[in-house]
Formats: sequence, C-alpha cells, structure tokens
Amino acid sequence: MVRNDHRIVPDRYIQEHEKRPFLKTQNPTSYEIPIIDFSLLTKRDEDEQKKLDYACKKYGFFQLINHGVVEELIQRMKSAEAACFDLPLEVKKKYAMAENDVQGYGQVFVVSEEQKLDWADIFFLMTYPPQHTTYKNWPLIVPDFKETVEEYSAEICRVSEEILANLSLLMKMKEDGLKELHKVMRLSTRMNYYPPCSKPELVLGLSPHSDSGSITILVQHDDIPGLQIRHQGQWIPIKPLPGAFVVNVGDTLEVWSNGVFKSVEHRAVTNARKARMSIPIFVRPDDEAEIGPVDTMLCDNNGQALYKRIKYIDYVRSYLDRKLEGKITDSLK
Ligand code: SIN
Ligand code: FE2
Repeated sequence: MVRNDHRIVPDRYIQEHEKRPFLKTQNPTSYEIPIIDFSLLTKRDEDEQKKLDYACKKYGFFQLINHGVVEELIQRMKSAEAACFDLPLEVKKKYAMAENDVQGYGQVFVVSEEQKLDWADIFFLMTYPPQHTTYKNWPLIVPDFKETVEEYSAEICRVSEEILANLSLLMKMKEDGLKELHKVMRLSTRMNYYPPCSKPELVLGLSPHSDSGSITILVQHDDIPGLQIRHQGQWIPIKPLPGAFVVNVGDTLEVWSNGVFKSVEHRAVTNARKARMSIPIFVRPDDEAEIGPVDTMLCDNNGQALYKRIKYIDYVRSYLDRKLEGKITDSLK
C-alpha cells in the first residue's frame, strides 16, 4: 500500500472529472436488483428460472438468497480476508505479485506508470480445483487460510454449478451444457480491501470493468455499500443484503449466450468513515476452452453469431493487457 495516511489523497488517485463518482447527473432514482432464491433453482422451479432469465438479460446482476453456504464458513472466510490485510506491510509485500503475474498481493490492473490508481489493495489467488493450484503467493502465514479458502471455494463451486445448470436450460442446452463448455471449471478468488478515503468523491475503489469469466459470486463484509453497476446509463448502488451473495454475468457467458445475457460494467466507490472488504470469486473456463456463441442461442439473432470464436486464454490476455476501462467484449464482434 502506497497510501500510509488516508487523509491525504495523492494525485495519482484523483480521477479525471467525468470519471469521479457521485456526479449529480448519475444519481439513480431507484436501485433494486432482482433477488433469486437458490433453493428454488435446485428444484428447477420454472417461475424462479424466469426471474433468473430476466435478471441476466436486464441487469446482468442479482442477489442470491438461500444458497445453503453456512454462515459459519462465510464468517471464517471473511475473517481470513481481514487477517490477510491486517498483516504488517513488510509481510504482505512478501506475497507481492511478480511483474507479469496476477497472483498475490498488489493492486488491480496496473499497466502503466501514468495511469490513475484505484483506492484498493487486493490479494488475487487461483483457488480451485486444488489439484491445479500452485499456492503461489498465498498468505499461508494466516492460520487455517488454505483450509478455509479451499472449503469456501468448494462450496462456491457447488453453488455455481447449480446456477450454470439452470442457465444451460434457459439457453436450451442440456443441464450440464455450460459446465462442459468450461472443460474444467476454475475459480479465482480476489480479496478486495478499500481503506477509508477522506475524499471519496475524487477517487474510485475499483474502476469500471466487466468480469472476464462466466459468472462471479461476491460476498461483502458488513453492510457497507460500495458496489455500483451500470444500468440504463446510470450507476446504481447495490445495497448489501445480509446473507446474500451478489452474482453477475461475466463476458464469457455473454459471448456463449450470443449477447442475450449481459456482462455489465460495475465499479466500487469508497467512503470517508470505514474500510470496506469484499470477496468476489470468479468462475471461468479452462485456458484452452473455446468461447463463442452456442448454436442453440443463434436462433434469437436470425442464426447469426455476434462474436468471434476464440480460446479463453487469448481473450484473457487481451483483457489483462489493458487498464480496467469498461467492457471489451466488443473486440470479439
Ligand atoms: C469487483 O470485484 O468487481 C467489485 C466488488 C466489490 O467490491 O463490491
Ligand atoms: Fe468485477
């Protein structure tokens, strides 16, 4: 962390005027996103599937309740995250991301000396499946970190498979259609830490971006808001719903669905009072998996595919080569 005094906001963090949060022109009138009941999805409840379909088409985001991940495990995961950021800076630096590597402690998407920086520190780790994990830059000094992250990741994998099964049916595929497209379902975990900032109106916790994988499942600490999504030209704050996960569609699912499900831009803002923490888990396909529209979704667009077919790894390379700045799925059109 380069900011050791939160009252001072260095120039490199001050956003250009039009990128600053809380601009008057962007104040939304209402901000509810759909709430989906996971327990009904497991029963393939058709009304709930319709709500899921609507959420993924209109918002690209929804709150997931009754997901069955026990509160005790979620609390352990949050405590593990807090313990990581509580480590002294010299210790955290031992896990620093190497140049050209995304794993470890650092900041998101720093690609140039000149770019503006986000008001956040992160740990980014590839966490699932365990047999593909290298534990590179994992802060294993935190007691039970590995066990907690692996247990939590396995649970998020279970939840993701169920969501993907329902989405497969909505995409007129067989239930395991999307799972098979992943080849191997891989999970990465990012722990986000946004310190308080004396001038939250000048900085961004996390710049606007869309996620590159298939779906993302996010848990937030406490009820401190910060996540905002772009909806109908406005930035909508997402109110934390106790016990719920926030789930969103990523670029890969948008492409597989031929643009029917929307991978929506989002960002995080800070506040002057309290640090905020969140943990998004990114579900993504294997590097060698292909992303391109599936045949069953072409009929919604007169048989035309809206995106090129490429390997996931090639898409991710172009995604990482740039600073977080909006969506890049257009590059596949
Ligand atoms: C993100 O990871 O995209 C932002 C999540 C958040 O802090 O709410
Ligand atoms: Fe994101």
